[in-house]
Amino acid sequence: MNGLVYFIHAALHCCIVGYGQQVWPEPYKRLDRRPDVDPYCQALYPFCPSGDPDGRMPVMRDSDIISVFRLQTPVWEFRYGDTLGKFHVMHDAVGFASARTGRNFTLEWYELFQLGNCTFPHERASVSAPFWCNQGAACCSDGIDDVHWKQNGTLEKIGEISGEMFNEMARWVQEDNETGVYYETWTVKSDPGANSTTWFESYDCSQFVHRTYKTLLDMGAELSSQAPTCYTKIYLYSGEPLYLGDDSIFQQSSTKDLATDIKKFYHSFRSHQSVVEMIESLLEAFEKMVLEKTFYFYYNSEYWKLPMKYPYVKITYEEIPLP
Ligand SMILES: *[C@@H]1O[C@H](CO)[C@@H](O)[C@H](O)[C@H]1NC(C)=O
Ligand SMILES: *[C@@H]1O[C@H](CO)[C@@H](O)[C@H](O)[C@H]1NC(C)=O
Ligand SMILES: *[C@@H]1O[C@H](CO)[C@@H](O)[C@H](O)[C@H]1NC(C)=O
Ligand SMILES: *[C@@H]1O[C@H](CO)[C@@H](O)[C@H](O)[C@H]1NC(C)=O
Ligand SMILES: *[C@@H]1O[C@H](CO)[C@@H](O)[C@H](O)[C@H]1NC(C)=O
Repeated sequence: MNGLVYFIHAALHCCIVGYGQQVWPEPYKRLDRRPDVDPYCQALYPFCPSGDPDGRMPVMRDSDIISVFRLQTPVWEFRYGDTLGKFHVMHDAVGFASARTGRNFTLEWYELFQLGNCTFPHERASVSAPFWCNQGAACCSDGIDDVHWKQNGTLEKIGEISGEMFNEMARWVQEDNETGVYYETWTVKSDPGANSTTWFESYDCSQFVHRTYKTLLDMGAELSSQAPTCYTKIYLYSGEPLYLGDDSIFQQSSTKDLATDIKKFYHSFRSHQSVVEMIESLLEAFEKMVLEKTFYFYYNSEYWKLPMKYPYVKITYEEIPLP
């Protein structure tokens, strides 16, 4: 049955590509509901430790006035030769403060098992396919830690909304959290130029913040930022991606060589416990790409082959205006 589904899926992809109707960027696939996490995936740091245990959002009185804050803090900075420049990786979140109660909240979206696990899979003896611990989720926690955001980052009030609007947004957050569950680290583009084609869009904390602003603006909120709103993007550059298939690649004898190649590609990326190990793997990935010009890319739980192009990979911190 799976084989048939795979065949139909692959055939559909071929037809779409064949008729030149492949849509780029490839749409991020949403699910009906969030699947349970495999017990193999164990978080080193608990996800959302100060959030509501049942994942509920706070409820505001409709007539309340809620201040909205743009929050940003550096995750790490790192310099690697002149090729990659200075990494400037920021984490983004949105803050809310109730005028009625004085309580405030931090809303963010991040990896359940850290960035390394969302970027590279595990090898498991009992499972033929590479194994991913790549879910991300929204976390709404009590309080805004002013010092944490202000000291080396940003804490900026960007507007006010009604309690009613907050509650409507909260319903959107829950739905978004149920249906968009896989973290995607990379943005894949044809080149660094202004007119490049985007093959795949990332799905990460800054995309969530951007979607939240857009949801509020669509409801009629007025938000504006005095400072430029910059986000970290982790880019890969490649020619048009080639669709390969899903996990069935690793189960069928007809795709055995491809399966071996993909596993070999991911083999050298060891599992990561720290950010430093994660950076080391990114650099290994970079060298591999320069040498082999191939990246086996995982998106929507499917594999694609990227014919890599100069400058291969880039981590940027660039301005993306409010929607
Ligand atoms: C990544 O996933 C592995 C496998 O579940 C786990 O052992 C490890 O703790 C995770 N890393 C982090 C930083 O959570
Ligand atoms: C989002 O989903 C995760 C995983 O199920 C859950 O832990 C979290 O509380 C949810 N967040 C919100 C704001 O609903
Ligand atoms: C959030 O609430 C705490 C505790 O009342 C307060 O110290 C902090 O300044 C508030 N932050 C914002 C941005 O409202
Ligand atoms: C801000 O940066 C300085 C210097 O890098 C560091 O010592 C300090 O711990 C940082 N503060 C926070 C809240 O991250
Ligand atoms: C991008 O495309 C536009 C419209 O086709 C053209 O006017 C512009 O010069 C291009 N810019 C670059 C950097 O190629």
